[in-house]
Amino acid sequence: MWVQDHFKPRPTDIFLASFPKSGTTWLKALIFATVNRTRYGFADHPLLTTGPHDCFPFLDAHLQEKDRSRFDLDRFPSPRLLSIHIPYILLPNSMTDHQSCRFVYICRDPKDVLVSKWLFLNKLRPKDLPPISLEEAFELFCQGISHYGPFWDHVLGYWEGSLETPEKILFLKYEDLKKEPLVVVKRLGDFLGYPFSLEEESKGVVEEIVKLCSFENLSTLEVNKVSEQKFSKDTIIDNRHFFRKGKVGDWKTYLTTEMVERLDEITYEKLLGSGLVFGS
Ligand code: A3P
Repeated sequence: MWVQDHFKPRPTDIFLASFPKSGTTWLKALIFATVNRTRYGFADHPLLTTGPHDCFPFLDAHLQEKDRSRFDLDRFPSPRLLSIHIPYILLPNSMTDHQSCRFVYICRDPKDVLVSKWLFLNKLRPKDLPPISLEEAFELFCQGISHYGPFWDHVLGYWEGSLETPEKILFLKYEDLKKEPLVVVKRLGDFLGYPFSLEEESKGVVEEIVKLCSFENLSTLEVNKVSEQKFSKDTIIDNRHFFRKGKVGDWKTYLTTEMVERLDEITYEKLLGSGLVFGS
Protein backbone atom coordinates (compact mmCIF):
# COMPACT_ATOMS: atom_id res chain seq x y z
CA MET A 1 0.00 0.00 0.00
CA TRP A 2 2.87 2.35 0.76
CA VAL A 3 4.42 1.64 -2.64
CA GLN A 4 1.07 2.17 -4.35
CA ASP A 5 0.33 5.41 -2.54
CA HIS A 6 3.70 7.07 -2.09
CA PHE A 7 6.50 5.58 -4.15
CA LYS A 8 7.50 7.81 -7.06
CA PRO A 9 9.38 5.81 -9.68
CA ARG A 10 11.90 7.48 -11.95
CA PRO A 11 12.07 6.46 -15.62
CA THR A 12 15.66 5.37 -15.02
CA ASP A 13 14.86 3.06 -12.07
CA ILE A 14 16.00 -0.53 -12.37
CA PHE A 15 14.05 -3.05 -10.33
CA LEU A 16 15.13 -6.56 -9.59
CA ALA A 17 12.02 -8.62 -8.85
CA SER A 18 11.99 -12.15 -7.50
CA PHE A 19 10.25 -14.71 -5.36
CA PRO A 20 12.52 -15.19 -2.31
CA LYS A 21 15.36 -17.74 -2.72
CA SER A 22 15.37 -17.60 -6.52
CA GLY A 23 18.82 -16.01 -6.93
CA THR A 24 18.16 -12.40 -5.86
CA THR A 25 21.57 -11.99 -4.19
CA TRP A 26 23.39 -13.19 -7.32
CA LEU A 27 21.41 -10.92 -9.66
CA LYS A 28 21.91 -7.94 -7.35
CA ALA A 29 25.65 -8.39 -7.69
CA LEU A 30 25.50 -8.93 -11.48
CA ILE A 31 23.30 -5.91 -12.17
CA PHE A 32 25.27 -3.66 -9.83
CA ALA A 33 28.56 -4.73 -11.44
CA THR A 34 27.19 -4.35 -14.98
CA VAL A 35 25.65 -0.92 -14.51
CA ASN A 36 28.62 0.48 -12.58
CA ARG A 37 31.43 -1.17 -14.54
CA THR A 38 33.02 2.08 -15.69
CA ARG A 39 32.98 3.53 -12.17
CA TYR A 40 34.85 0.79 -10.33
CA GLY A 41 37.91 -1.34 -11.00
CA PHE A 42 37.69 -5.07 -10.33
CA ALA A 43 40.60 -5.00 -7.86
CA ASP A 44 38.90 -2.62 -5.43
CA HIS A 45 35.27 -3.17 -6.34
CA PRO A 46 32.62 -2.25 -3.73
CA LEU A 47 31.24 -5.79 -3.96
CA LEU A 48 34.47 -7.04 -2.41
CA THR A 49 33.83 -5.11 0.78
CA THR A 50 30.07 -4.45 0.76
CA GLY A 51 27.45 -7.18 0.59
CA PRO A 52 25.15 -7.33 -2.49
CA HIS A 53 22.18 -6.33 -0.34
CA ASP A 54 23.85 -3.07 0.71
CA CYS A 55 24.85 -2.24 -2.87
CA PHE A 56 21.36 -2.99 -4.14
CA PRO A 57 18.78 -2.50 -1.36
CA PHE A 58 15.26 -3.83 -1.07
CA LEU A 59 12.54 -1.24 -1.64
CA ASP A 60 10.54 -3.25 0.88
CA ALA A 61 13.17 -2.38 3.52
CA HIS A 62 12.21 1.26 3.16
CA LEU A 63 8.71 0.43 4.32
CA GLN A 64 9.99 -0.98 7.58
CA GLU A 65 12.67 1.60 8.19
CA LYS A 66 11.47 4.05 10.83
CA ASP A 67 14.51 6.26 10.36
CA ARG A 68 13.84 7.50 6.81
CA SER A 69 17.14 9.39 6.68
CA ARG A 70 18.92 6.01 6.61
CA PHE A 71 17.13 5.10 3.43
CA ASP A 72 16.08 8.26 1.66
CA LEU A 73 14.97 7.14 -1.80
CA ASP A 74 14.82 10.72 -3.09
CA ARG A 75 18.54 11.11 -2.48
CA PHE A 76 19.56 7.93 -4.30
CA PRO A 77 21.49 8.78 -7.49
CA SER A 78 20.07 7.57 -10.83
CA PRO A 79 19.82 4.90 -11.95
CA ARG A 80 18.37 3.71 -8.66
CA LEU A 81 18.79 -0.03 -8.18
CA LEU A 82 15.96 -1.38 -6.05
CA SER A 83 14.97 -4.92 -5.29
CA ILE A 84 11.41 -6.11 -4.68
CA HIS A 85 9.61 -9.32 -3.83
CA ILE A 86 6.22 -7.64 -4.41
CA PRO A 87 3.99 -9.63 -6.84
CA TYR A 88 3.51 -7.96 -10.24
CA ILE A 89 -0.24 -7.67 -9.76
CA LEU A 90 0.25 -5.46 -6.70
CA LEU A 91 2.54 -2.93 -8.36
CA PRO A 92 1.09 0.52 -9.05
CA ASN A 93 0.54 1.61 -12.67
CA SER A 94 3.24 4.21 -12.25
CA MET A 95 5.74 1.32 -12.05
CA THR A 96 4.27 -0.93 -14.71
CA ASP A 97 3.31 1.57 -17.41
CA HIS A 98 5.32 1.43 -20.61
CA GLN A 99 7.38 4.60 -20.43
CA SER A 100 8.95 4.21 -17.05
CA CYS A 101 11.39 1.97 -15.27
CA ARG A 102 12.69 -1.50 -16.14
CA PHE A 103 12.43 -4.82 -14.35
CA VAL A 104 14.65 -7.85 -14.29
CA TYR A 105 12.84 -10.89 -12.92
CA ILE A 106 14.74 -13.95 -11.79
CA CYS A 107 12.93 -17.25 -11.28
CA ARG A 108 14.06 -20.74 -10.35
CA ASP A 109 12.78 -24.31 -10.31
CA PRO A 110 10.21 -24.34 -7.47
CA LYS A 111 11.73 -27.53 -6.02
CA ASP A 112 15.04 -25.73 -5.43
CA VAL A 113 13.20 -22.63 -4.20
CA LEU A 114 11.29 -24.70 -1.65
CA VAL A 115 14.40 -26.43 -0.29
CA SER A 116 16.43 -23.20 -0.20
CA LYS A 117 13.60 -21.36 1.53
CA TRP A 118 12.98 -24.08 4.10
CA LEU A 119 16.66 -24.24 5.11
CA PHE A 120 16.98 -20.43 5.11
CA LEU A 121 13.91 -19.87 7.30
CA ASN A 122 15.09 -22.47 9.78
CA LYS A 123 18.39 -20.60 10.12
CA LEU A 124 16.48 -17.42 10.95
CA ARG A 125 14.11 -19.14 13.34
CA PRO A 126 14.49 -18.23 17.03
CA LYS A 127 16.51 -20.90 18.85
CA ASP A 128 13.76 -21.47 21.41
CA LEU A 129 11.35 -22.63 18.71
CA PRO A 130 11.55 -26.10 17.10
CA PRO A 131 12.71 -26.10 13.46
CA ILE A 132 10.05 -26.26 10.74
CA SER A 133 9.94 -29.79 9.32
CA LEU A 134 10.37 -30.34 5.59
CA GLU A 135 6.90 -31.91 5.49
CA GLU A 136 5.35 -28.78 7.01
CA ALA A 137 7.30 -26.43 4.72
CA PHE A 138 6.34 -28.56 1.72
CA GLU A 139 2.64 -28.53 2.58
CA LEU A 140 2.57 -24.76 3.07
CA PHE A 141 4.45 -24.20 -0.19
CA CYS A 142 2.08 -26.45 -2.16
CA GLN A 143 -0.92 -24.63 -0.70
CA GLY A 144 0.61 -21.33 -1.78
CA ILE A 145 1.07 -20.13 1.79
CA SER A 146 4.31 -18.23 1.31
CA HIS A 147 5.72 -14.79 1.88
CA TYR A 148 4.56 -12.71 -1.12
CA GLY A 149 1.90 -15.25 -2.10
CA PRO A 150 1.92 -18.50 -4.05
CA PHE A 151 5.12 -19.18 -6.01
CA TRP A 152 3.31 -19.92 -9.30
CA ASP A 153 1.19 -16.73 -9.25
CA HIS A 154 4.31 -14.70 -8.56
CA VAL A 155 6.23 -16.19 -11.48
CA LEU A 156 3.28 -16.04 -13.88
CA GLY A 157 2.58 -12.39 -13.07
CA TYR A 158 6.04 -11.32 -14.23
CA TRP A 159 6.12 -13.89 -17.06
CA GLU A 160 2.94 -12.54 -18.57
CA GLY A 161 4.16 -8.98 -18.01
CA SER A 162 7.38 -9.83 -19.86
CA LEU A 163 5.39 -11.19 -22.81
CA GLU A 164 3.27 -8.03 -22.96
CA THR A 165 6.15 -5.57 -22.52
CA PRO A 166 9.43 -7.36 -23.31
CA GLU A 167 11.25 -4.04 -23.54
CA LYS A 168 10.34 -3.40 -19.92
CA ILE A 169 10.64 -6.78 -18.19
CA LEU A 170 13.54 -9.16 -18.71
CA PHE A 171 12.56 -12.61 -17.49
CA LEU A 172 15.53 -14.77 -16.44
CA LYS A 173 15.95 -18.27 -15.07
CA TYR A 174 18.53 -19.19 -12.44
CA GLU A 175 19.26 -22.40 -14.34
CA ASP A 176 20.09 -20.51 -17.58
CA LEU A 177 22.35 -18.18 -15.68
CA LYS A 178 24.20 -21.16 -14.23
CA LYS A 179 24.55 -22.78 -17.65
CA GLU A 180 25.50 -19.75 -19.74
CA PRO A 181 26.43 -16.84 -17.48
CA LEU A 182 28.27 -14.90 -20.19
CA VAL A 183 25.31 -15.02 -22.57
CA VAL A 184 22.87 -13.92 -19.87
CA VAL A 185 25.07 -11.09 -18.59
CA LYS A 186 25.43 -9.74 -22.14
CA ARG A 187 21.63 -9.84 -22.50
CA LEU A 188 21.37 -8.04 -19.18
CA GLY A 189 23.69 -5.29 -20.41
CA ASP A 190 21.69 -4.85 -23.64
CA PHE A 191 18.37 -4.82 -21.83
CA LEU A 192 19.40 -2.33 -19.16
CA GLY A 193 20.83 0.08 -21.72
CA TYR A 194 24.45 -0.67 -20.78
CA PRO A 195 25.52 -2.88 -23.72
CA PHE A 196 29.03 -4.30 -23.69
CA SER A 197 31.17 -2.86 -26.49
CA LEU A 198 33.29 -5.12 -28.68
CA GLU A 199 36.35 -3.69 -26.98
CA GLU A 200 34.98 -4.57 -23.54
CA GLU A 201 34.15 -8.06 -24.75
CA SER A 202 37.61 -8.58 -26.16
CA LYS A 203 39.16 -7.32 -22.93
CA GLY A 204 37.17 -9.93 -20.98
CA VAL A 205 34.99 -7.48 -19.02
CA VAL A 206 31.97 -9.82 -19.12
CA GLU A 207 34.10 -12.69 -17.79
CA GLU A 208 35.41 -10.43 -15.00
CA ILE A 209 31.86 -9.54 -13.93
CA VAL A 210 30.79 -13.18 -13.94
CA LYS A 211 33.86 -14.12 -11.88
CA LEU A 212 33.39 -11.27 -9.41
CA CYS A 213 29.75 -12.26 -8.81
CA SER A 214 30.27 -16.02 -8.77
CA PHE A 215 29.14 -18.05 -5.79
CA GLU A 216 32.73 -19.21 -5.29
CA ASN A 217 33.96 -15.62 -5.02
CA LEU A 218 31.16 -13.86 -3.16
CA SER A 219 30.56 -16.62 -0.60
CA THR A 220 34.21 -16.59 0.51
CA LEU A 221 34.54 -12.82 0.98
CA GLU A 222 34.94 -11.65 4.55
CA VAL A 223 31.95 -9.28 4.26
CA ASN A 224 29.68 -12.16 3.26
CA LYS A 225 31.05 -14.54 5.88
CA VAL A 226 31.02 -12.43 9.02
CA SER A 227 28.88 -9.32 8.50
CA GLU A 228 25.19 -9.04 9.00
CA GLN A 229 22.66 -7.25 6.88
CA LYS A 230 20.36 -4.75 8.54
CA PHE A 231 17.19 -4.74 6.43
CA SER A 232 15.33 -2.76 9.10
CA LYS A 233 15.44 -2.20 12.84
CA ASP A 234 13.91 -5.61 13.48
CA THR A 235 15.20 -7.60 10.52
CA ILE A 236 18.88 -8.36 10.72
CA ILE A 237 20.24 -11.37 8.84
CA ASP A 238 23.79 -12.75 8.66
CA ASN A 239 25.08 -12.28 5.11
CA ARG A 240 26.36 -15.86 5.06
CA HIS A 241 22.78 -17.17 5.13
CA PHE A 242 22.32 -15.87 1.58
CA PHE A 243 25.02 -18.25 0.35
CA ARG A 244 24.36 -21.94 0.85
CA LYS A 245 25.27 -24.19 -2.09
CA GLY A 246 24.29 -22.21 -5.16
CA LYS A 247 23.56 -25.35 -7.19
CA VAL A 248 20.87 -26.48 -9.61
CA GLY A 249 18.97 -29.57 -8.50
CA ASP A 250 19.93 -29.75 -4.82
CA TRP A 251 16.26 -30.67 -4.20
CA LYS A 252 17.32 -34.24 -5.04
CA THR A 253 19.12 -34.37 -1.68
CA TYR A 254 15.97 -33.60 0.29
CA LEU A 255 12.65 -34.25 -1.47
CA THR A 256 10.97 -37.65 -1.57
CA THR A 257 9.66 -39.11 -4.85
CA GLU A 258 6.09 -38.33 -3.73
CA MET A 259 6.98 -34.72 -3.00
CA VAL A 260 8.65 -34.32 -6.38
CA GLU A 261 5.66 -35.82 -8.19
CA ARG A 262 3.18 -33.58 -6.37
CA LEU A 263 5.19 -30.41 -6.87
CA ASP A 264 5.82 -31.17 -10.56
CA GLU A 265 2.14 -31.83 -11.05
CA ILE A 266 1.12 -28.53 -9.46
CA THR A 267 3.71 -26.71 -11.55
CA TYR A 268 2.52 -28.41 -14.73
CA GLU A 269 -1.12 -27.52 -14.04
CA LYS A 270 -0.45 -23.94 -12.99
CA LEU A 271 1.83 -23.15 -15.93
CA LEU A 272 -0.19 -25.04 -18.54
CA GLY A 273 -0.72 -22.89 -21.62
CA SER A 274 1.56 -20.11 -20.38
CA GLY A 275 4.58 -21.14 -22.44
CA LEU A 276 6.73 -21.09 -19.31
CA VAL A 277 8.51 -24.31 -18.35
CA PHE A 278 11.09 -25.26 -15.77
CA GLY A 279 13.81 -27.85 -16.37
CA SER A 280 13.19 -31.52 -15.62
P1 A3P B 1 20.67 -22.42 -2.27
O1 A3P B 1 20.01 -22.31 -0.94
O2 A3P B 1 20.02 -23.42 -3.16
O3 A3P B 1 22.14 -22.63 -2.19
P2 A3P B 1 18.13 -15.37 -2.78
O4 A3P B 1 19.34 -14.56 -3.05
O5 A3P B 1 16.98 -15.06 -3.70
O6 A3P B 1 17.78 -15.33 -1.34
O7 A3P B 1 18.49 -16.87 -3.16
C1 A3P B 1 19.45 -17.58 -2.40
C2 A3P B 1 19.91 -18.75 -3.22
O8 A3P B 1 20.83 -18.29 -4.24
C3 A3P B 1 20.70 -19.75 -2.38
O9 A3P B 1 20.48 -21.01 -3.01
C4 A3P B 1 22.12 -19.24 -2.56
O10 A3P B 1 23.10 -20.20 -2.25
C5 A3P B 1 22.11 -18.89 -4.03
N1 A3P B 1 23.16 -17.93 -4.40
C6 A3P B 1 23.57 -16.84 -3.71
N2 A3P B 1 24.56 -16.22 -4.37
C7 A3P B 1 24.78 -16.93 -5.50
C8 A3P B 1 25.72 -16.80 -6.58
N3 A3P B 1 26.60 -15.82 -6.62
N4 A3P B 1 25.67 -17.71 -7.57
C9 A3P B 1 24.77 -18.72 -7.55
N5 A3P B 1 23.87 -18.90 -6.55
C10 A3P B 1 23.87 -18.01 -5.53
